[in-house]
Amino acid sequence: MPIKRALEEKGSRARRCVIIEKVIIDPKTVSASISYQLLTATVIPRPIGFISSISALGIVNLAPFSFFNAICGEPPMIMFCPVNRRPQKDTLLNVQATREFVANIVTEEIARQMNLTAGDYAPDVSEFDISGLTPIASDIVKPPRVLESPVNMECKVFDIIEVSDKPGGGSVVIGEVVRFHVLDSMISKDMIIDPQGLHPIGRLGGSSYIHVHDRFNMIRPVIKK
Ligand SMILES: Cc1cc2nc3c(=O)[nH]c(=O)nc-3n(C[C@H](O)[C@H](O)[C@H](O)COP(=O)(O)O)c2cc1C
Repeated sequence: MPIKRALEEKGSRARRCVIIEKVIIDPKTVSASISYQLLTATVIPRPIGFISSISALGIVNLAPFSFFNAICGEPPMIMFCPVNRRPQKDTLLNVQATREFVANIVTEEIARQMNLTAGDYAPDVSEFDISGLTPIASDIVKPPRVLESPVNMECKVFDIIEVSDKPGGGSVVIGEVVRFHVLDSMISKDMIIDPQGLHPIGRLGGSSYIHVHDRFNMIRPVIKK
């Protein structure tokens, strides 16, 4: 991106005027796929929620969602966003029907299996079978957890908000975490988790991913009042 710098003399004071050229895009003038690409290539890296759910008929489903994040701590809430598909994605239909899901954290060790589950499989296919990952019973909710994932969050649906019913639109599924399961070796007595030990992966644009190997710390400013 070209950056032009102009130096402007104003009396005895020199003023530096920085003109930064940016491409300005009105989303109403571009296709939904361009807007999607602009978002997914810049809102990065995104964590990946590996969502296990179960249909009203008891068919287990597993799919990754990188429109995924934590919302707040009291009560602990998380969200993920299924984008519209016709017919709708199995995960959305399942959480609408049963109001429960498990968010499993995706690590380097299970990245390839996670990717296998993202195919457009028929609703009667369990992605646990496709990926070889192991379903293990949850404490409170019906959908199973992923054994190979070091962190599982059992959730009850708090709300499902349809943001847009257009192609390319989607819904926000908000879940209250009713149980955390954390691999013993990853959590200290004070309940602190070492991200280096967790080996999470993040999603970039397209089919690119990132490891969390390069960490730095910053202490926030303390403002005296
Ligand atoms: C890493 C990754 C992240 C994804 N994130 C999302 C997402 O946030 N929203 C979405 O609708 N689909 C997302 N997908 C695609 C779904 O996983 C895919 O459509 C899947 O087949 C849906 O499965 P289901 O029909 O069993 O729910 C993602 C795929 C991958 C590989």
